[in-house]
Amino acid sequence: MPSVREIVDRDPEADPITVLTAYDTPTARIVDDAGIDVVLVGDSIGDAVLGHGSSLPVALDTMATHTAAVARGVDDALVVADLPFLSYGVSEAESLRNAGRMLKEAGAGAVKLESGPHTVELTRRLVELGIPVQAHLGLTPQHINRVGLQRQGTDEAAAAEILDLAEAHEEAGAFSLILEHIPANLAALVTDELNIPTIGIGAGPETDGQVLVVNDVVGLSEHPPPFATAFGNVRKEMVAAVETYRDEVVGGSFPSADETHVEEGLELE
Ligand code: KIV
Ligand code: NA
Repeated sequence: MPSVREIVDRDPEADPITVLTAYDTPTARIVDDAGIDVVLVGDSIGDAVLGHGSSLPVALDTMATHTAAVARGVDDALVVADLPFLSYGVSEAESLRNAGRMLKEAGAGAVKLESGPHTVELTRRLVELGIPVQAHLGLTPQHINRVGLQRQGTDEAAAAEILDLAEAHEEAGAFSLILEHIPANLAALVTDELNIPTIGIGAGPETDGQVLVVNDVVGLSEHPPPFATAFGNVRKEMVAAVETYRDEVVGGSFPSADETHVEEGLELE
Protein backbone atom coordinates (compact mmCIF):
# COMPACT_ATOMS: atom_id res chain seq x y z
CA MET A 1 0.00 0.00 0.00
CA PRO A 2 1.37 3.47 -0.80
CA SER A 3 1.92 5.90 2.06
CA VAL A 4 -0.14 9.08 2.14
CA ARG A 5 3.07 10.84 1.01
CA GLU A 6 2.58 9.50 -2.49
CA ILE A 7 -0.87 11.09 -2.62
CA VAL A 8 0.33 14.38 -1.12
CA ASP A 9 3.37 14.62 -3.40
CA ARG A 10 1.42 14.10 -6.63
CA ASP A 11 0.96 16.95 -9.09
CA PRO A 12 -2.84 16.88 -9.24
CA GLU A 13 -2.93 19.28 -12.20
CA ALA A 14 -1.15 16.65 -14.27
CA ASP A 15 -2.63 13.65 -12.47
CA PRO A 16 -5.98 14.19 -10.67
CA ILE A 17 -6.54 11.95 -7.65
CA THR A 18 -9.23 9.29 -8.01
CA VAL A 19 -11.05 8.07 -4.90
CA LEU A 20 -13.92 5.57 -4.78
CA THR A 21 -15.60 3.72 -1.95
CA ALA A 22 -15.65 -0.07 -1.54
CA TYR A 23 -16.99 -2.22 1.27
CA ASP A 24 -16.04 -5.80 0.31
CA THR A 25 -13.13 -7.74 -1.16
CA PRO A 26 -14.35 -8.39 -4.74
CA THR A 27 -15.43 -4.79 -5.24
CA ALA A 28 -12.17 -3.52 -3.74
CA ARG A 29 -10.26 -5.73 -6.21
CA ILE A 30 -12.20 -4.25 -9.15
CA VAL A 31 -11.62 -0.70 -7.90
CA ASP A 32 -7.91 -1.32 -7.30
CA ASP A 33 -7.39 -3.09 -10.65
CA ALA A 34 -9.02 -0.11 -12.40
CA GLY A 35 -6.20 2.09 -11.09
CA ILE A 36 -8.16 4.10 -8.52
CA ASP A 37 -5.67 5.80 -6.18
CA VAL A 38 -7.56 5.69 -2.87
CA VAL A 39 -10.19 3.17 -1.77
CA LEU A 40 -12.38 4.71 0.92
CA VAL A 41 -14.27 2.36 3.21
CA GLY A 42 -16.97 4.94 3.84
CA ASP A 43 -19.50 4.92 6.62
CA SER A 44 -21.82 5.32 3.63
CA ILE A 45 -21.88 1.52 4.08
CA GLY A 46 -24.81 2.22 6.43
CA ASP A 47 -26.89 3.36 3.48
CA ALA A 48 -25.23 1.59 0.54
CA VAL A 49 -24.93 -1.91 2.01
CA LEU A 50 -26.64 -2.24 5.40
CA GLY A 51 -30.01 -0.65 4.65
CA HIS A 52 -29.97 1.87 7.50
CA GLY A 53 -30.82 4.83 5.25
CA SER A 54 -28.03 6.85 6.87
CA SER A 55 -24.55 6.38 8.28
CA LEU A 56 -25.48 7.04 11.90
CA PRO A 57 -26.07 3.45 13.12
CA VAL A 58 -22.78 2.10 11.69
CA ALA A 59 -20.65 0.47 14.40
CA LEU A 60 -16.88 0.67 14.72
CA ASP A 61 -16.68 -3.14 14.57
CA THR A 62 -18.55 -3.05 11.27
CA MET A 63 -16.05 -0.56 9.88
CA ALA A 64 -13.16 -2.72 11.10
CA THR A 65 -14.62 -5.86 9.48
CA HIS A 66 -15.26 -4.19 6.14
CA THR A 67 -11.99 -2.27 6.13
CA ALA A 68 -10.16 -5.57 6.60
CA ALA A 69 -12.18 -7.10 3.74
CA VAL A 70 -11.27 -4.18 1.48
CA ALA A 71 -7.60 -4.27 2.50
CA ARG A 72 -7.49 -7.98 1.51
CA GLY A 73 -8.62 -7.04 -1.99
CA VAL A 74 -6.27 -4.12 -2.59
CA ASP A 75 -2.66 -4.32 -3.80
CA ASP A 76 -1.87 -0.82 -5.03
CA ALA A 77 -4.31 1.77 -3.68
CA LEU A 78 -4.25 3.57 -0.34
CA VAL A 79 -7.04 2.22 1.90
CA VAL A 80 -8.75 4.88 4.03
CA ALA A 81 -11.18 3.86 6.79
CA ASP A 82 -14.00 6.23 7.74
CA LEU A 83 -14.56 6.65 11.48
CA PRO A 84 -18.27 6.20 12.23
CA PHE A 85 -20.58 8.46 14.22
CA LEU A 86 -19.54 8.88 17.88
CA SER A 87 -16.47 6.63 17.54
CA TYR A 88 -14.44 9.86 17.81
CA GLY A 89 -15.01 13.14 19.59
CA VAL A 90 -16.56 11.78 22.76
CA SER A 91 -13.27 11.38 24.57
CA GLU A 92 -9.76 11.78 23.28
CA ALA A 93 -8.41 8.44 24.53
CA GLU A 94 -11.32 6.53 23.04
CA SER A 95 -11.01 8.42 19.73
CA LEU A 96 -7.31 7.62 19.45
CA ARG A 97 -7.80 3.93 20.24
CA ASN A 98 -10.74 3.60 17.86
CA ALA A 99 -8.83 5.26 15.03
CA GLY A 100 -5.77 3.13 15.79
CA ARG A 101 -7.79 -0.07 15.38
CA MET A 102 -8.31 0.75 11.72
CA LEU A 103 -4.55 0.62 11.15
CA LYS A 104 -3.56 -2.05 13.69
CA GLU A 105 -6.38 -4.52 13.13
CA ALA A 106 -8.03 -3.69 9.85
CA GLY A 107 -5.06 -2.81 7.66
CA ALA A 108 -6.03 0.71 6.63
CA GLY A 109 -3.31 3.21 5.76
CA ALA A 110 -5.23 6.23 7.05
CA VAL A 111 -8.52 7.25 8.65
CA LYS A 112 -11.10 9.81 7.61
CA LEU A 113 -13.28 11.72 10.03
CA GLU A 114 -15.92 14.38 9.60
CA SER A 115 -14.23 17.59 10.63
CA GLY A 116 -15.26 20.64 12.60
CA PRO A 117 -13.89 22.95 15.27
CA HIS A 118 -13.86 19.93 17.62
CA THR A 119 -11.52 17.82 15.43
CA VAL A 120 -8.53 20.16 14.99
CA GLU A 121 -6.72 18.98 18.14
CA LEU A 122 -7.82 15.38 17.59
CA THR A 123 -6.35 15.48 14.08
CA ARG A 124 -3.08 16.80 15.50
CA ARG A 125 -2.90 14.00 18.11
CA LEU A 126 -3.73 11.27 15.60
CA VAL A 127 -1.06 12.50 13.19
CA GLU A 128 1.48 12.76 16.02
CA LEU A 129 0.80 9.12 16.88
CA GLY A 130 1.31 8.00 13.29
CA ILE A 131 -2.29 7.77 12.13
CA PRO A 132 -2.71 9.76 8.90
CA VAL A 133 -5.98 11.71 8.78
CA GLN A 134 -8.13 12.75 5.87
CA ALA A 135 -10.35 15.67 6.89
CA HIS A 136 -13.92 16.16 5.58
CA LEU A 137 -15.77 19.50 5.39
CA GLY A 138 -18.90 20.92 3.76
CA LEU A 139 -21.79 18.51 4.01
CA THR A 140 -20.89 16.08 6.80
CA PRO A 141 -23.64 13.43 6.79
CA GLN A 142 -23.13 12.47 10.45
CA HIS A 143 -24.83 15.85 11.11
CA ILE A 144 -27.93 14.91 9.12
CA ASN A 145 -30.17 15.50 12.15
CA ARG A 146 -28.85 19.05 12.52
CA VAL A 147 -28.26 20.21 8.94
CA GLY A 148 -30.06 17.74 6.66
CA LEU A 149 -28.39 16.85 3.37
CA GLN A 150 -28.41 20.22 1.62
CA ARG A 151 -25.48 22.06 0.07
CA GLN A 152 -23.22 23.81 2.60
CA GLY A 153 -21.15 26.99 2.42
CA THR A 154 -23.75 28.92 0.45
CA ASP A 155 -23.40 32.26 2.27
CA GLU A 156 -20.25 34.27 3.01
CA ALA A 157 -20.10 33.41 6.71
CA ALA A 158 -20.51 29.68 6.10
CA ALA A 159 -17.99 29.76 3.25
CA ALA A 160 -15.46 31.61 5.42
CA GLU A 161 -15.93 29.05 8.19
CA ILE A 162 -15.21 26.17 5.78
CA LEU A 163 -12.05 27.89 4.53
CA ASP A 164 -10.89 28.59 8.12
CA LEU A 165 -11.49 24.99 9.19
CA ALA A 166 -9.74 23.69 6.06
CA GLU A 167 -6.65 25.73 6.93
CA ALA A 168 -6.80 24.66 10.59
CA HIS A 169 -6.91 20.97 9.63
CA GLU A 170 -4.07 21.36 7.15
CA GLU A 171 -2.06 23.04 9.90
CA ALA A 172 -2.99 20.20 12.30
CA GLY A 173 -1.45 17.72 9.85
CA ALA A 174 -4.32 16.29 7.78
CA PHE A 175 -2.87 14.81 4.56
CA SER A 176 -5.93 15.56 2.44
CA LEU A 177 -9.37 17.16 2.65
CA ILE A 178 -12.68 15.92 1.29
CA LEU A 179 -15.09 18.71 0.32
CA GLU A 180 -18.68 17.52 0.05
CA HIS A 181 -21.64 19.31 -1.58
CA ILE A 182 -20.38 22.90 -1.55
CA PRO A 183 -20.37 25.51 -4.33
CA ALA A 184 -17.71 24.87 -6.98
CA ASN A 185 -16.30 28.38 -6.56
CA LEU A 186 -15.80 27.80 -2.83
CA ALA A 187 -14.13 24.42 -3.49
CA ALA A 188 -11.83 26.11 -6.01
CA LEU A 189 -10.87 28.78 -3.46
CA VAL A 190 -10.16 26.20 -0.73
CA THR A 191 -8.09 24.18 -3.22
CA ASP A 192 -6.08 27.29 -4.12
CA GLU A 193 -5.46 28.21 -0.48
CA LEU A 194 -4.36 24.75 0.71
CA ASN A 195 -1.19 22.80 -0.01
CA ILE A 196 -2.72 19.39 0.78
CA PRO A 197 -4.87 17.81 -1.95
CA THR A 198 -8.62 18.46 -1.91
CA ILE A 199 -11.00 15.72 -3.02
CA GLY A 200 -14.45 16.83 -4.11
CA ILE A 201 -17.87 15.19 -4.11
CA GLY A 202 -20.58 17.49 -5.40
CA ALA A 203 -18.00 20.30 -5.27
CA GLY A 204 -17.28 20.93 -8.95
CA PRO A 205 -14.28 20.15 -11.16
CA GLU A 206 -11.56 22.27 -9.57
CA THR A 207 -10.60 20.14 -6.59
CA ASP A 208 -7.42 18.05 -6.84
CA GLY A 209 -9.43 14.84 -7.09
CA GLN A 210 -12.91 13.37 -7.00
CA VAL A 211 -14.65 10.80 -4.79
CA LEU A 212 -17.95 8.97 -5.26
CA VAL A 213 -19.78 6.04 -3.69
CA VAL A 214 -19.19 2.89 -5.76
CA ASN A 215 -22.87 1.87 -5.68
CA ASP A 216 -23.72 5.20 -7.35
CA VAL A 217 -20.92 4.88 -9.93
CA VAL A 218 -21.92 1.40 -11.08
CA GLY A 219 -25.66 2.13 -11.07
CA LEU A 220 -26.71 0.02 -8.11
CA SER A 221 -28.19 2.73 -5.88
CA GLU A 222 -31.93 3.27 -5.78
CA HIS A 223 -31.69 6.89 -4.66
CA PRO A 224 -28.33 8.37 -5.72
CA PRO A 225 -27.58 11.94 -4.61
CA PRO A 226 -28.06 14.67 -7.25
CA PHE A 227 -24.28 15.13 -7.75
CA ALA A 228 -23.55 11.45 -8.48
CA THR A 229 -23.52 9.95 -11.97
CA ALA A 230 -24.08 6.29 -12.80
CA PHE A 231 -21.39 5.19 -15.24
CA GLY A 232 -23.00 1.76 -15.66
CA ASN A 233 -26.20 -0.14 -14.87
CA VAL A 234 -25.33 -2.98 -12.52
CA ARG A 235 -28.84 -2.93 -11.04
CA LYS A 236 -30.32 -3.79 -14.44
CA GLU A 237 -27.79 -6.61 -14.93
CA MET A 238 -28.52 -8.05 -11.48
CA VAL A 239 -32.28 -7.85 -11.93
CA ALA A 240 -32.01 -9.65 -15.28
CA ALA A 241 -29.72 -12.38 -13.87
CA VAL A 242 -31.87 -13.01 -10.79
CA GLU A 243 -35.12 -13.08 -12.80
CA THR A 244 -33.61 -15.46 -15.34
CA TYR A 245 -32.38 -17.79 -12.59
CA ARG A 246 -35.81 -17.83 -10.98
CA ASP A 247 -37.57 -18.42 -14.31
CA GLU A 248 -35.25 -21.28 -15.22
CA VAL A 249 -35.72 -23.03 -11.87
CA VAL A 250 -39.49 -22.66 -12.08
CA GLY A 251 -39.50 -23.66 -15.77
CA GLY A 252 -37.29 -26.71 -15.15
CA SER A 253 -34.42 -25.72 -17.44
CA PHE A 254 -31.95 -25.19 -14.57
CA PRO A 255 -30.07 -27.32 -13.67
CA SER A 256 -29.69 -28.82 -17.14
CA ALA A 257 -27.71 -31.94 -18.08
CA ASP A 258 -24.60 -29.73 -18.33
CA GLU A 259 -24.94 -28.68 -14.71
CA THR A 260 -25.80 -32.17 -13.45
CA HIS A 261 -23.60 -35.12 -12.46
CA VAL A 262 -24.92 -38.66 -12.11
CA GLU A 263 -22.48 -41.06 -10.37
CA GLU A 264 -22.82 -44.16 -12.56
CA GLY A 265 -21.32 -46.73 -10.17
CA LEU A 266 -23.25 -45.54 -7.17
CA GLU A 267 -25.73 -48.20 -5.98
CA LEU A 268 -28.69 -46.70 -4.22
CA GLU A 269 -31.66 -48.51 -2.69
O1 KIV B 1 -18.89 7.63 3.59
C1 KIV B 1 -18.51 7.98 2.46
O2 KIV B 1 -18.62 7.24 1.45
C2 KIV B 1 -17.94 9.32 2.33
C3 KIV B 1 -17.64 9.83 0.95
C4 KIV B 1 -18.88 10.05 0.18
C5 KIV B 1 -16.77 11.04 0.98
O3 KIV B 1 -17.74 9.96 3.33
NA1 NA C 1 -18.54 9.09 5.25
